[in-house]
Amino acid sequence: MKVNNAELIISAVGPEQYPEAGLPEIAFAGRSNVGKSSFINTIIERKNLAYTSQQPGKTRTLNFFAINDVCHFVDIPGYGYAKVSKKERAAWGRMIEEYLQTRSQLKGVVLLIDVRHEPSEQDLMMYDWLKYYEIPVILVLTKMDKVRKTKRHAHIKQVLNAIDPEPEDGHVPFSAETGEGKDEAWRAIRELGRF
Ligand code: GTP
Ligand code: MG
Repeated sequence: MKVNNAELIISAVGPEQYPEAGLPEIAFAGRSNVGKSSFINTIIERKNLAYTSQQPGKTRTLNFFAINDVCHFVDIPGYGYAKVSKKERAAWGRMIEEYLQTRSQLKGVVLLIDVRHEPSEQDLMMYDWLKYYEIPVILVLTKMDKVRKTKRHAHIKQVLNAIDPEPEDGHVPFSAETGEGKDEAWRAIRELGRF
């Protein structure tokens, strides 16, 4: 999809700040530093609209972006970042759960997994939790540029075997570095959001 207009509408910490527009929403979840913000920037072709960083824990609020005024993308803070206090982590957990459980505009979640590694306990929990709440999921297997060509298949399989996604949940091999998977990701997202 050609994105002519993408802007950050609000960085929210609670429902009273969620935008009121009824546009379909797609949220982006995954371990801290997995590449959620990079994914958003790549597919909308903006360098750093969603702030990225080599330091995990960069995204700390629910960042709502309006895309072409047809949908919202919601960049959510990553999980599994050790260097925050227990209290802060619990507050993030509540903020994210509240959004995912209550937001009627939410059409689905793009769950990003680093294709190089076996999915973590938290990745598995996140997927199962989304399924428990019957939220459609697209698995994006990211950082594909970091695995050798001959190992691609094995890495993809390792992730899919661990997550064991339901048949209706698609998966897309992706790289923010090379742009691999960009069109396929768009197709899957538009299908999910019906826009
Ligand atoms: P938090 O906001 O902390 O949850 O992180 P995030 O998931 O938004 O990650 P972010 O997009 O900030 O990326 C983290 C780091 O991974 C950055 O240094 C990115 O440049 C790098 N990165 C993201 N995607 C890719 C990719 O596909 N390939 C490679 N090689 N590096 C990537
Ligand atoms: Mg981020």
